[in-house]
Amino acid sequence: MKIDVLTIFPEFFREVFDFGIIRRARLAEIVGINVHDLREFTTDKHRTVDDRPFGGGDGMVLKCEPIFRAIENLTGTTERENYPKGTKVILLSPQGRVFKQETAREFASEGGHIVLICGRYEGVDERVNDALVTDEISIGDYVLSGGEPAAIVLVDAIVRLLPNALGSETSAENDSFSDGLLDCPHYTRPADFRGMRTPEVLLEGNHAEIEKWRKAKALEKTKKIREDLLRSEK
Ligand code: ADE
Repeated sequence: MKIDVLTIFPEFFREVFDFGIIRRARLAEIVGINVHDLREFTTDKHRTVDDRPFGGGDGMVLKCEPIFRAIENLTGTTERENYPKGTKVILLSPQGRVFKQETAREFASEGGHIVLICGRYEGVDERVNDALVTDEISIGDYVLSGGEPAAIVLVDAIVRLLPNALGSETSAENDSFSDGLLDCPHYTRPADFRGMRTPEVLLEGNHAEIEKWRKAKALEKTKKIREDLLRSEK
């Protein structure tokens, strides 16, 4: 998989993809990640990426021209219909559909090439959405000052699902949300830490009992914290 990130703050990403699973996946060439400065795609002296909104109002709007030029450079076209197969051009914005584990799975399995456009300021010229964007995505119902943290969230959630990115094949299957529930609690040594004891069942080695306990705990936690997950379709 190839991931391109388009941002006016490339420095923001300087080391964030250099750790853990993402670093390993990059070194193993499971994924290639490149961060691009939107200003590199400007043509004017001042390298202008934003302008005042038509109709008035606060803040600045990211301009069409540099984004169109960048997408043409990265995908070969500015017509969504003509993107190479498996291309996703994703705009990060609070107006998008909310990113879920299911969305991460969708992008990990369908996207050979993912371009992430980090929105900024008050917004992005709507013609970017109309012509270029295949998916507008929000990471939750709160407003960030830009799409950069959201892009990092997507990259992490997607890359760890790519084949062979995780050490053990089963790890992703046991994640929170993969079966619609939160994850069960985990313990490691010491079994007794300052009087706080690990549940006996985990120490006894009866695997059927351990599985039963884990499932029950996952359900109990989900009921308490995220009852909505039990009621949702997926
Ligand atoms: N940019 C600003 N807020 C955002 C959010 N919640 N998700 C994605 N991008 C954003």
